[in-house]
Amino acid sequence: MIDRAAEMTAIADQVLICQKCDLSKTRTKAVPGYGDINAEILFIGEGPGFHEDKQGLPFVGRSGEYLDKLLALLGLNRSQVFITNVVKCRPPENRDPMPDEILACKPYLEKQQSLIDPLIIVTLGRFSMARYFPGDKITQIHGKPKFDDRVAYYPLFHPAAVLRNPSLQETMAQDFKRIPQVIEEVRKRREAAGNGGRAPKQSATGEPPKTDDKPTQLSMF
Ligand code: URA
Ligand code: SF4
Repeated sequence: MIDRAAEMTAIADQVLICQKCDLSKTRTKAVPGYGDINAEILFIGEGPGFHEDKQGLPFVGRSGEYLDKLLALLGLNRSQVFITNVVKCRPPENRDPMPDEILACKPYLEKQQSLIDPLIIVTLGRFSMARYFPGDKITQIHGKPKFDDRVAYYPLFHPAAVLRNPSLQETMAQDFKRIPQVIEEVRKRREAAGNGGRAPKQSATGEPPKTDDKPTQLSMF
């Protein structure tokens, strides 16, 4: 059995020293991601901003505060989910990540996704949405899940967009509150397909987790 937590830590270690694209030249700290390797929900944002780059942690600025509030609507905190980004290093002046940067960074995200094996992948913003919903418009597809065998893809507005446009707040909250329903649907589909089992839960030691299992802290040196 592979030690999923150890593999996740190994990915984070690679990200921290990665030089596969030019964003490595301007970053302060790379931001591999944060959360529970056993999470049912994987959030994928765009890329680190000012505060994330300083702290090495995802969604710690204003958008992150808002994300915490949304998670609280579900009775969750960020240690119970997994949060990462399409690019792990901050684009200068928060410009959009470029196609070659997204491509260079893609193997990290793919590996994280396969290790976590989430029931739902929530995309926050255009660039993570484009991975799973190429060509679609967020105003048309937000809050509409797309199912495949093992997972649902669920596009949401980016928290920063909602903060800029408060009239979206109610919609965002309603979309968010539907996450548990979508997860239930995936569970049913996995069971019906006979592939209900997720990879066994593990703690950092590879032993079954204790109930007070701490999240894998990926971003601290
Ligand atoms: N916005 C993002 O898309 N990701 C972060 O980590 C922070 C803000
Ligand atoms: Fe490496 Fe991704 Fe950072 Fe580019 S953005 S340097 S590919 S970790």
